Amino acid sequence: MNYERLFEPVKIGNLFLKNRTIFPPISTNFAEEDGSLTDKFINHYVRRAKGGVALIIVENSCIDYPKGKHGKFEARIDSYEFLPGWKRLVDKIHEYGVKCAVELAHPGYEDKGVDLLSEGEIEGLIEKYVLGAEIAKDAGFDMVEIQGAHGLLVNRFLSPLTNHRKDKWGERTRFAVKIRKRIAEKCGWDFPVSIRLATNDFKDGGIDLKEGKRIANVLAKAGYDMIQADVGLGPKEKRLEPMPYTEGWRAYLAKGIKPLPVPVAAVGVIRTPEVAERILEEQADLVVLGRALIADPDWVNKVREGKENLIRRCIGCSECIKARHDEDTAIRCGVNPNVGNEEEIVPAFEKKVVAVVGCGPAGLEATRISVKRGHEVHLFCKEFGGQLNLAMMPPGKSKIKALMEYYENVINEGKNVHFHEGDAEKEDIMKLNPDVVIMATGARPFVPFPLIKGMVHKYSDILIGKSVLESKIVVVGGGGLVGCETANFLAQKNKVIVVEMLDDIALGMETITRKSLCRELGEKGVRILTRRKIIDIADGVIEIENMDNGEKEKIKCDALVAAFGNKPYVPFTFDDRPCYIIGDARSIGKIVDATHEGYAVAMRI
Ligand SMILES: Cc1cc2nc3c(=O)[nH]c(=O)nc-3n(C[C@H](O)[C@H](O)[C@H](O)COP(=O)(O)O)c2cc1C
Ligand code: SF4
Repeated sequence: MNYERLFEPVKIGNLFLKNRTIFPPISTNFAEEDGSLTDKFINHYVRRAKGGVALIIVENSCIDYPKGKHGKFEARIDSYEFLPGWKRLVDKIHEYGVKCAVELAHPGYEDKGVDLLSEGEIEGLIEKYVLGAEIAKDAGFDMVEIQGAHGLLVNRFLSPLTNHRKDKWGERTRFAVKIRKRIAEKCGWDFPVSIRLATNDFKDGGIDLKEGKRIANVLAKAGYDMIQADVGLGPKEKRLEPMPYTEGWRAYLAKGIKPLPVPVAAVGVIRTPEVAERILEEQADLVVLGRALIADPDWVNKVREGKENLIRRCIGCSECIKARHDEDTAIRCGVNPNVGNEEEIVPAFEKKVVAVVGCGPAGLEATRISVKRGHEVHLFCKEFGGQLNLAMMPPGKSKIKALMEYYENVINEGKNVHFHEGDAEKEDIMKLNPDVVIMATGARPFVPFPLIKGMVHKYSDILIGKSVLESKIVVVGGGGLVGCETANFLAQKNKVIVVEMLDDIALGMETITRKSLCRELGEKGVRILTRRKIIDIADGVIEIENMDNGEKEKIKCDALVAAFGNKPYVPFTFDDRPCYIIGDARSIGKIVDATHEGYAVAMRI
C-alpha cells in the first residue's frame, strides 16, 4: 500500500502541512513544577518532530495559574516570563519542517460551574485564552488550539448538561465564538486557531452528534480553522480508551460533522497506516496519532519508507494514563522505554558476546538493544513472547500480539543475533563463553494447593488452551489482574466465581481500564467474593472462609483455577561473569517493567 492520502499535503487556514498526521496534546508532566519547560519536555516533542509527523499540538498548557492548573508538572503559557522556553521548543520543532501549535486549556473553577460565573469572570477567562494565544504567536507557534472537549471549560459552556444560563452566555457557543474573535483581534485573522470539539458528550441530555454537527458549523463560521472531532464530558473511557476499543472506532464523529468549510480531524485509537488511510478516504481530512507516536515517534517515517512492519505499535496498556492521571507523575510507556529519556542508542564501545536467556518482553527488549549496539547476541528462546502469549488471550487483549510481532521483525533485521530454540541448559551457554549473561527467564504460576487432577488448573494452562473448561461452574482463586483477566476469559463459556483475599479486585490497575474490566465481569455475571480465603479443596467442592467474621462456606464447583499470580523463575545463574537477572525473573511486574529493565541492562553492558 502506498498511503496516498496520508502523505497528501493539506492546509489549515493558511498553514501548509506536509502530510495529514497530527500529534495531539498529550500531557507529559515533563515540565517543572513552576510551569517552565525542561529539556526533557523539549526533547520529547523534538523527537516526535524528527519522526515525520506534520503538525504537533503541544499539550494542555496552563493559561490561568494557579486556579486553572491541571497537572502537577503542567507547562504555563499565562505569562511572558515563559516565552524563552516556548521559543526554544518551537525553533527546534521547526528545524524538522514540522508545524506546531499549543493547546490552551482551562479546567474551569472547581467551586464554580458555568452557571455560577459572573459576566466579569467570563470575560476575564476569555482574555486568558487570548493572552495564551499572544504568547504562543510571539514564541513562533504556527497555530493555537482551544480545548473544547473532555469536560473542560469550553465543553461545559457548550453542553446543555452544564450550561443552564439564562443570560446571553446561555447561547452555548458564545464563549467559544468570543474566544476565536478576540484571538483574531489580538493576533490577526491569519493566525490559525483550531478547536478540539466535544461532538458527542456520550451522556444522556448532553451533546449528541446532531448537536455536535450544529456546533461545529457555528464554530467553523466563527473562524475556527480546523476541528478535531473529539468527545465531551461523558465517561473517561471514551477519550482515554482502554485496550479493548477497536481501532478508529470514533472516526465516525468526524464524518458526522462533515461537510464543513474547514478541515476535520479524526481522533481515537488510530494505530495502523491501513486504518489511518481508510479514515482519510472515507471519514476525515486529517488523522490524529496520539499514543501511536508515544509508542513509536518514527511511525510516520516508517510508513513513508515502506517499513510499516517495524512500527512499535501502542498496545493500549494505559501505563501513560496511569502515570498522568492516577499518579500525576511523568508519563512512561509500556512499550517505549525512551519516553522521557530520548537518548540516542549508540554502538557499544566494546563489542561483547551476550547471552540472553528467555524471550518474554524483558529478554526481547534486552536483545533488541544489545543487537542495535553491535554486540554478538545469542537469544535462548523456548517460546517467543513468553508471558505475552498468555496476556493476549483474554477478551480485548489481542493488541498485545503486535508487540511480539514488532520484536520478531526488528530483531530479525539484525545480522548479529543467533537464535537457540528450546530449554536453555547452563552448559549450552557456557560453551559460548559469553562476556555477559542476561537471565530473563520469567516466572511460573504460583499454586499454593495440590493440583488435584481435573479439579485444579493453572491459569496459564487455561489461557493457552491446555486445559479447556466449558459450561462449568468455575472458581477462580485470586482476583488480582491475572485472576480477573482469567475470569473474563472463562466467563465467555462458564459460570465464574472469583475469590479474593483483599478488599477489592484488580487493585493496582489503571483506573479506567479497571472500571471497564469490572463492568465486563459484571455483565458476564461473574460473582466476586472479596476478603475470602480458600481453605479446603476437594473434588467438586471448595471451602472458603470469610476473613472478617470467620464464617465458612462450601461452594460446589466443577473446577478451581489457580490465578494467585506468579513467582520468579531462575533455573541457574553465573558467578564467574556478569550475570543480570531482569523482568519477572527478578521481580514480578508488568510489561512496562519488563521492557524498561531489558532496555536499561542492554544500555549498560
Ligand atoms: C497520557 C495522556 C495525556 C493526555 N493529555 C491530553 C491533554 O493534555 N489534552 C488533551 O486535549 N488531550 C489529552 N489526551 C488525549 C489525547 O490527546 C488523545 O485524544 C487520546 O489519547 C486519544 O487518541 P490516541 O488513541 O491516538 O492516543 C491525553 C491522552 C493521554 C493518553
Ligand atoms: S503506555 Fe501503553 S497505552 Fe500508553 S502509549 Fe505506551 S503502549 Fe500505548
